Amino acid sequence: MIAHKCPHIQVTIVDVNADRIAAWNSEHLPIYEPGLEEIVKACRGKNLFFSTDVDKAIIEADLVFVSVNTPTKKSGVGAGYAADLFYVEACTRRIASVATSSKIVVEKSTVPCRTAQSMRTILEANSRPGLRFDILSNPEFLAEGTAIKDLDAPDRVLIGSLSTPEGRAAQQSLVEVYANWVPRARVITTGLWSSELSKLAANALLAQRISSINALSAICEATGADVDEVAHACGLDSRIGSKFLKSSVGFGGSCFQKDILNLVYLSESLHLPEVADYWRQVITMNEYQKRRFAQTVVSSMFNTITNKKLAVLGFAFKKDTGDTRETPSATVCRFFRQENAKVSIYDPKVPEKQIFVDLTEPGVADDSQLVQQQVTVCKSAMEACTGAEGICVLTEWDEFKSLDWEAIYASMAKPAMVFDGRGILDADKLRSIGFKVHSIGKGLNL
Ligand code: UDX
Repeated sequence: MIAHKCPHIQVTIVDVNADRIAAWNSEHLPIYEPGLEEIVKACRGKNLFFSTDVDKAIIEADLVFVSVNTPTKKSGVGAGYAADLFYVEACTRRIASVATSSKIVVEKSTVPCRTAQSMRTILEANSRPGLRFDILSNPEFLAEGTAIKDLDAPDRVLIGSLSTPEGRAAQQSLVEVYANWVPRARVITTGLWSSELSKLAANALLAQRISSINALSAICEATGADVDEVAHACGLDSRIGSKFLKSSVGFGGSCFQKDILNLVYLSESLHLPEVADYWRQVITMNEYQKRRFAQTVVSSMFNTITNKKLAVLGFAFKKDTGDTRETPSATVCRFFRQENAKVSIYDPKVPEKQIFVDLTEPGVADDSQLVQQQVTVCKSAMEACTGAEGICVLTEWDEFKSLDWEAIYASMAKPAMVFDGRGILDADKLRSIGFKVHSIGKGLNL
């Protein structure tokens, strides 16, 4: 987006992964995101370059964005909660050792609060004499599937810096980059630590809304209330707002769970156990929602799905992306596998290989063969649904709303059931065709 909006700025994207850079330089970009291809193709070779020559790009740059992954640690101190800063540290050390002129280093990756301090210490301790490094925190708030739209017209851009004159000056240079297309009032400046914490806080608050509405969906199902009506009635209160109150089979994605776990770890490290418990509950509720949905499928299908064919429509964690990180669909499919169902999966954007990777338990002997026996990946929704006894909609892809439901019904074993985990289908219409329908948060009127 910077390259697109600022023709006077040269943007070079570097990565140590040569395959990935080759893909960015090819006809087939490594990720799907609406509108991305057009922008890359328009700027590539003009003021946007993709390269594996990391050192050259560092030497030439005035501003260096560190945008590497910070996964949840799998082992060691803080395993399961803390962010692994290995890649952030490796980048910082590389910048320090290669730079021949002063740089502004921008922390773009989502990191725990006070990481900028560690980056600064590393840069200062390892750089050549006479060089200056200023650190900024500029967290990214874009959501997948709407990345280009979010970058083009962000609600806000946040830039944190130290409150020294040098820090403020560095902050101003980044403000000027964004000012090329973002209204000034939307570019906000804060201290470094507020900026780092705001990213974790924003994601925790968003995820909390989903867990809150999902907790209410369970009450709706038990009472006969309708979660969409409840969300609408509550959302019209301007203090609450209507967005992010869509009840679902659970939230997924690379950020929400990871960032909340990070916040939990931070709270515990700060000896605030009650605060840690409070945020942990958002994750607990999300796990409950996925399990509750899968259990509803089993109980509705006469308490057994052994050897029954179930169609799963949607594997990505949300529509308009091929990303499957933390996707609720994988959790639900694993549950179905444990109950020995035959699962046919269709997703418009997720490759077959990825689905098998996500459903294979690492370290379990011969598990992949077993997965192949139980799971089929299909090329269309119709193929997945043919002969099935139940259909689960687990991603809100638009195409699922306009499927030929009459033809699907005719092809299925009876009674034909639909479990709408995203609340996107017209349940009355499906019932008129003959389906038995369960929608999340709508009472069990199969
Ligand atoms: C999120 C934040 O929105 C973004 O600001 C941050 O930078 C990264 O994390 P992303 O994970 O790409 O973005 O997608 P988002 O649209 O937030 O959806 C996350 C999950 O919540 C999805 O599984 C989605 O289906 C689910 N969701 C979202 C709901 O279940 N109900 C809602 O009302 C909204």
